[in-house]
Amino acid sequence: MQIRQKNQSCNFDNYPTCEKDIDPKQRAWIEVRGTAIEKNVRQLRSKLSKSCQFMAVVKADGYGHDARVVSEYAIKGGASQLGVATLKEGIKLRSSGVKKPILILGNLYTKKDLIMSFKNDLMPTISSIGECLICNNIGKHFGSQFSLHLKVDTGMSRLGFEHSKFIQQFEKIKYFENISIKGIYSHLSSADQENSLDPKSITQLQRIKFQELLKQINVDRNQIIKTHLANSAGMLLNENFHLHMVRIGLSMYGYNPLAKTDIGLSLQPALFLKVRVSFTRIIDKGVGVSYGGKFVSSRKTKLAVLSIGYADGIPRNLSGKINVIHKNKFYPQVGSITMDQMMVDITGSNEIKVGSTMILLGSDGDKTISPVDWARASNTIPWEILCSFKNRLPRVQVD
Ligand SMILES: Cc1ncc(COP(=O)(O)O)c(C=O)c1O
Repeated sequence: MQIRQKNQSCNFDNYPTCEKDIDPKQRAWIEVRGTAIEKNVRQLRSKLSKSCQFMAVVKADGYGHDARVVSEYAIKGGASQLGVATLKEGIKLRSSGVKKPILILGNLYTKKDLIMSFKNDLMPTISSIGECLICNNIGKHFGSQFSLHLKVDTGMSRLGFEHSKFIQQFEKIKYFENISIKGIYSHLSSADQENSLDPKSITQLQRIKFQELLKQINVDRNQIIKTHLANSAGMLLNENFHLHMVRIGLSMYGYNPLAKTDIGLSLQPALFLKVRVSFTRIIDKGVGVSYGGKFVSSRKTKLAVLSIGYADGIPRNLSGKINVIHKNKFYPQVGSITMDQMMVDITGSNEIKVGSTMILLGSDGDKTISPVDWARASNTIPWEILCSFKNRLPRVQVD
């Protein structure tokens, strides 16, 4: 008896204690499939002319997937430029060794931020002549040219030069000696709306407005300046939107932004959200489940407790509206989603046990659950679902 106790304490002492020793798949995690990104980019690229460039939009940490991994595989698939939202995102990508041109899609307006952008070889988006002047002074100071893109507002009313004043301002900007205009772009506000092919739609009017402006400044003469307008939806509408480059996010991650249109591509989701069962229990008929007891069992029910909740980025208003997959079978989530856990009705399953893995997003056999389904159920958009996942969920690359 004494000897056994000694051995046991010895084994226990040898267990690791550091955070780094925790298995990333111990609780809940996001699987990132780099090869899906690569294949999606290849497929999307096949819709573009050879000369049209593909900018992979990897802002918000690659729509929650991990910007470094997404960039690596997007480049393998044929992306020639990358788009981020912030200075920090751009610097992080450069530090990870990415060499391709990087455009910051958000606005930098202080001299300090613009100098940092210049020093890290990141191209800012410029929306005013004042910002252009700062960039020109920075280029001059360093005896060089500051590469940047000019943005024109054609109807989004977010960033960009005022459309009606752009030509006049461009006439001055084009003589600034210490900037190099690498692109002129605009952003579509409504390309994913059903009427976008209607000649009178906002999307078509934005395109015409932008193209007429480009004609007037005669940018095609100058091959250095890339013109770009299309996001995923714009690109998939038709080739009139492609210009010299497209800026692609959602479809590269595997989702069709044009809900009711068959785009003729088999895009693969690059993100799977998986979770462990941390406990199971059986409750009688008539028992409330989770906060507020809003779900009451209508029969003797077997529950699995999953280690994931709204603090991981699962919208709480999905409570009771989603399924979870285990071995090609759907199981309904029941009761309010809590901060760190949620319950699933697994009545009838003998296979699901403590430690089993269930799929919240992704597919198994012929069962699939996508962020598009979650977005519909929680009255939001798939972009928001993808960007909501917190860092508490480790990103695990699988290829
Ligand atoms: C300026 C800009 N371009 C391109 C994109 C990519 O859009 P999507 O994810 O619809 O392809 C975004 C995303 O919001 C954006 O802000």
